[in-house]
Amino acid sequence: PESCSQIPEAWRFDCYPERGAVVTEEMCHARNCCFIQRSQAKTSGRNGVPWCFYTPDCSSYELVSITDTEMGKVGKLLRNKKTYYPKDIDALQMEVLYEEDNRLRVKITDPAEKRYEVPIDVPVVQKKASNPSYTVDFIKEPFGLIVKRTQTGTVLLNTSIAPLFYADQFLQMSTSLPSRFIYGLGEHRSNFLHDVQWKTLTMWARDVPPMELTNLYGVHPFYLSMESDGMAHGFFMLNSNAMDVALQPAPALTWRMIGGILDFYIFLGPDPSSVIAQYLDVVGKPAMPIFWALGYHLCRWGYKSSDKTWNVVKEMRNYGIPQDVQWNDIDYMDHALDFTYDTVNFSSLPDLVKDLHRHDQHYVMILDPGISSSQLPGSYWPFDEGMKRGIFINDSNGDVWPGLTAFPDFSNPDTHEWWYQNLKRFHEKVPFDGVWIDMNEPSNFFDGSLNGCPDNELENPPYTPGILGGTLKTKTVCASARQKISTHYNIHSLYGLMEAKATERYRPFVISRSTFPSQGKYSGHWLGDNRSQWKDLATSIPGMLTFNILGIPLIGADICGFGGSTTEELCVRWTQLGAFYPFSRNHNSIDEQEPTAFSPAARTAMKEAILLRYSLFPHLYTLFHHAHISGHTVATPLLFQFPNDEKTYGIDKQFLLGKSLLVTPVLEAGQDYVVGYFPKGLWYDFHTVSHTSLETLLEIHNSLTAPKDKINLHLREGSVIPTQRPNTTLWVSSGQPLHLIVSLSEDGLAKGDLFWDDGETLDTYEKDQYAYIYFTVEQNTMTSEVLHNHEEATYITVETVSFYGVKTEPENVTVNSQEAAFTYRNNQVI
Ligand code: GLC
Repeated sequence: PESCSQIPEAWRFDCYPERGAVVTEEMCHARNCCFIQRSQAKTSGRNGVPWCFYTPDCSSYELVSITDTEMGKVGKLLRNKKTYYPKDIDALQMEVLYEEDNRLRVKITDPAEKRYEVPIDVPVVQKKASNPSYTVDFIKEPFGLIVKRTQTGTVLLNTSIAPLFYADQFLQMSTSLPSRFIYGLGEHRSNFLHDVQWKTLTMWARDVPPMELTNLYGVHPFYLSMESDGMAHGFFMLNSNAMDVALQPAPALTWRMIGGILDFYIFLGPDPSSVIAQYLDVVGKPAMPIFWALGYHLCRWGYKSSDKTWNVVKEMRNYGIPQDVQWNDIDYMDHALDFTYDTVNFSSLPDLVKDLHRHDQHYVMILDPGISSSQLPGSYWPFDEGMKRGIFINDSNGDVWPGLTAFPDFSNPDTHEWWYQNLKRFHEKVPFDGVWIDMNEPSNFFDGSLNGCPDNELENPPYTPGILGGTLKTKTVCASARQKISTHYNIHSLYGLMEAKATERYRPFVISRSTFPSQGKYSGHWLGDNRSQWKDLATSIPGMLTFNILGIPLIGADICGFGGSTTEELCVRWTQLGAFYPFSRNHNSIDEQEPTAFSPAARTAMKEAILLRYSLFPHLYTLFHHAHISGHTVATPLLFQFPNDEKTYGIDKQFLLGKSLLVTPVLEAGQDYVVGYFPKGLWYDFHTVSHTSLETLLEIHNSLTAPKDKINLHLREGSVIPTQRPNTTLWVSSGQPLHLIVSLSEDGLAKGDLFWDDGETLDTYEKDQYAYIYFTVEQNTMTSEVLHNHEEATYITVETVSFYGVKTEPENVTVNSQEAAFTYRNNQVI
């Protein structure tokens, strides 16, 4: 019909999202949709304007009643006409929950039959928000839900733009977006700012070296969206089934899930940081890491023996390069068997770990979830005991590093007990300090199982999202495998979360490859199997920023790259950037790329970068405290601090550590300058103390010199940053007095803070065993106030303070009314 051609291309919602289908007019009309062929080769909205799209009057649900409840509203939805997917749920119940002034939750369920819901703890609210910053409107038929920001009238959600689907294995809801500025939706390799030009992001945990437009290790159905006036809101779809999230230039977004329920939250911010804090109020704020987690970590797949591992540690010590943690990959194991070590090549492992401890260093080793099922009965406790306790996923005959394996079912509390016993038994032999949990998508070299998978509707759903490999079972367990709490179909993408929870019970430091919302409470994450290429260096920044807004601030990429061989220049630049990753680990497959493997000049540059990180530890630790208690980011996108400056919206080659340290790394080969963007205000060069302003930088085309031995670091006006003289481990540094760095604003103001505790006791904030100090500078006076006192505070002393931006030379300086020595240098403007 004519009405079809009147729908602007950007607003055409794909009526035939099935992958690989070459849609004909006949097929499209069978769905009662509009068909307009286009010149582009591809037929589905995945790559461009869809050929087959919904008509404006397409059938959907009708809102037949809506009534007020104590928490908001409850509505009834009815579908009169079946869709083309089996098992439509014709009658739905919609609960609209006004949970907080800045948080709305909507839950649409089948009132007749309980459906699977994601088993993570979310707040249960008893009292309706008294002064919500949003309004909710409904359209009766076809049903639509519209959420607006009261203050500005901005539409944050409008589901009336395309029909709602709610069949047993196909749930679909579209919404318009207030702008094209949308972030989050992990785990994908992409720019920090997503591209809304017909891009579909698929979510289903998968082991694959990161590439664009592919479902990767983790699943995070959360986005942050900017409105036109610098305000921001967030959206979280609490669903763990395989799904597609389709973006189109309207701008609009479509959620397409193959199970569970529609349960979503909107967070009103209004600034981006508050959106994240509100999201983390729902899924949980990240744990406070143990202090040494923030040190420098070294790892390699291919050390081959404990002596070779030990040699690297010794060389690092000889060169005085800081290192807090040494790791081992699967080569420490006896034939790749979990909870064993190779007593021939790794015979000195227990001694190595003790030696690390003697030097205030720590040890972390890898564990994969696949438990070998082909050892002689009676010879391998983890499998024998697991069978006895019935903790493996039924029929999960997988193939991982040790050959045939069974996969523990971490949705079963008995599995947690068994896992704990295994960790404990192994700890008696090798006193490890933390655990690296890998391959937990879970990864399987078979598709499904040794014997394939049954042929049923879970294995072959009516709609399969754009999963790499085309089927749910590709390189993992069968979707229809039964687990304690549900089918693998429903809880597949929660495997890493549940394993992390089981592991964290034994040791507080866990790094997990697969992640899901709330993961930050239990573990950190690394960005997986990247390559030693400049492109991978650059993409590590958007990856790190995205995980910060997803509530997993303990994040980093394999420094110098995992696959392939690095070059010295790349490794130097990567170590400089990696020194600012919240989680800083050099990891490689096979060859050497530790700082000790390079020329003296490269080694020295790397050492300087790591020392710089160690000197910033008091600040970094304080940032993690704020992440833990307030849901702040640690690595922060520039736009979070400058939401009214649209030029920052696409920036992901620079980032802030916290709120004030701007990192501008070199991301290309052979460069001795780097171009950066400096939002309004004063920025001081951290290394030279010279100050600069936006105007000055513009004059010189924003380009900064970037010699090989340094990374550009700028300090924003108005901050006080606590630093410390660095040493070879954080424990040794922790005894050192502080050096405060103060950057004055035009008006001579600055503020900053310090959180300090013993570094090791868990939950010191909750147990009141911490010190918190606040620094302010105004009218030439700096004050430090102990806002929370604890004996830890008495161990810290301030030795020196640098003030950046003192306009005239002071006549004298007093400290607690005593004359103090000082030096003054004139600013050199770059
Ligand atoms: C996986 C991990 C990688 C590890 C390797 C061997 O590919 O992602 O980091 O080195 O397995 O265990």
